[in-house]
Amino acid sequence: MSTFQAPKGTYDLIPPTSAVYLAVREAISSPLRHAGYGYVETPGFENVELFARGVGESTDIVTKEMYAFETKGGDRLALRPEGTASVLRAALEANLHKQGALPVKLWYSGSYYRYERPQKGRYRHFSQVGAEAIGAEDPALDAELIILADQAYRALGLRHFRILLNSLGDKECRPVYREALQDFLRGLDLDEDTRRRVEINPLRVLDDKRAEVQKQLTGAPLLRDFLCDACRAYHKEVRELLTEAGVAFEDDERLVRGLDYYTRTTFEFVHDGLGSQSAVGGGGRYDGLSEMIGGPELPSVGWALGVDRTVLALEAEGVTLDLPATTSVFAVPLGEEARRVLFSVVTGLRRAGVATDFAFGGRGLKGAMKAANRSGARLTIVAGERDLADGVVQLKDMESGEQVPVPLSEVTSVVQARLGTV
Ligand code: HAM
Repeated sequence: MSTFQAPKGTYDLIPPTSAVYLAVREAISSPLRHAGYGYVETPGFENVELFARGVGESTDIVTKEMYAFETKGGDRLALRPEGTASVLRAALEANLHKQGALPVKLWYSGSYYRYERPQKGRYRHFSQVGAEAIGAEDPALDAELIILADQAYRALGLRHFRILLNSLGDKECRPVYREALQDFLRGLDLDEDTRRRVEINPLRVLDDKRAEVQKQLTGAPLLRDFLCDACRAYHKEVRELLTEAGVAFEDDERLVRGLDYYTRTTFEFVHDGLGSQSAVGGGGRYDGLSEMIGGPELPSVGWALGVDRTVLALEAEGVTLDLPATTSVFAVPLGEEARRVLFSVVTGLRRAGVATDFAFGGRGLKGAMKAANRSGARLTIVAGERDLADGVVQLKDMESGEQVPVPLSEVTSVVQARLGTV
């Protein structure tokens, strides 16, 4: 028999840790849902052209990391490497931007795929929760998103994360900077690949992690010094709103991000306990993306937080989430007759909204009680023939060990009273 393994760079979410992932997704999306963001879900794949145009023809994501393929019908598709282009495409396709006041605020949660070199924190299949606010140019919107991400991380109990903030300028000032940067970079001692990058995407060279490159970058022109008045004022306002909200950030002039669509505000959430894959989330403004994919002018801003890396960050900080046990009551029948009776008690409890599980498979009492313990249930219901003859079940409090007989007809109400659910 062959044994199958999850493909390289992927892993399975299985209980009990899978519950942590669900809790993280919930914690990240909760502040968004409370701030007017509506849920959006798009396909796991799109026309490859959407990402080529949206994310950028010269980015690593598009040139090296995309799972692109041709279908039997001849369509060129790609597994989504990120969510922003898809969400904007969906909003444009549904004309959401014409249906009410802007911005259109959307949140999403799902799987993304990048053919990267796998290592801790970097996977080929990973999960993000993201938010996009489409169609408004307002520094308060940029600030809102950063504040909501900060709130989500704090609610999870994370403390050792930092927010890096930068402005990438707009279509007025960035080209001027780009040229100045290119002039500077052309004078450096760089390998051929990097020299090519200088011509295609010079800002990405600033992000080169190699020490021999970084060493040469001291003295590189900074975008900060090239920002036009409008971008400067916009950025100042974002910074002030964050400060007023008590959200600490660090100015990082070198922050460029790996996607081409960004303009003005860009930011990254980094965690200090994660080694090289330290970005737990990132985002920014993308005022030109809609036009890049054939839509009208719709200045927008958003972020995506990596669920996998957020879980690693929790581990790094030693934070254990307070996850309530999923099962409140565990039923253990002793004998065939009791099985039938207790199974219908279980069904009744579940219909009444009580999370209940059952000792399946006819295990002995010992094995069944072990399962009851493992389930985390607060109450156990045990019944044998004698109990049934008396018309009762034994209700055991797993914490105190106290056990009382309860008439069959009153089980649901007594259990609800004990659990405080009525
Ligand atoms: P991104 O920075 O490429 O941005 O990804 C956001 C987050 O997803 C990263 O900070 C990281 O936590 C996680 N992530 C990315 N790649 C991997 C990987 N290979 N393995 C594990 N986690 C990963 C975006 O995707 C943009 N769409 C964000 C955005 C939304 N910008 C505007 N709106």
